[in-house]
Amino acid sequence: MALYSEKVMDHFRNPRNVGVIEDADGVGEVGNAKCGDIMKMYLKIEGDVITDAKFETFGCGSAIASSSMATELIKGKPVADAMRLTNQAVTEALDGLPSHKIHCSVLAEEAIHAALEDYHRKTKSEDCP
Ligand code: FES
Repeated sequence: MALYSEKVMDHFRNPRNVGVIEDADGVGEVGNAKCGDIMKMYLKIEGDVITDAKFETFGCGSAIASSSMATELIKGKPVADAMRLTNQAVTEALDGLPSHKIHCSVLAEEAIHAALEDYHRKTKSEDCP
């Protein structure tokens, strides 16, 4: 059996949503100290719905595939749904990852949550000048 699923290879070779959102409503950057990989997530949010998501990942193929799949999973979804996104959901959507690559999907979960926290911080401070 191949080490990586076809979906992982597809999202690694043709990652969706790579790039930067200049006027993002939330930006989150996380890293894994062990492998040194870094993931940055940009979210555009309108009326509590994630209208766009982009990422920059300096990391392994599984991290790129996880970022790509995670952005696809949250685009068009309410913020509350994205808050509940887990690395298991990302892994399942990719038809699995090898056990030593599960932490790559954790990075995607953490990056999205960090971007949402940034969004909440910004909107909170706008509400309470
Ligand atoms: Fe660390 Fe993939 S090896 S994110």
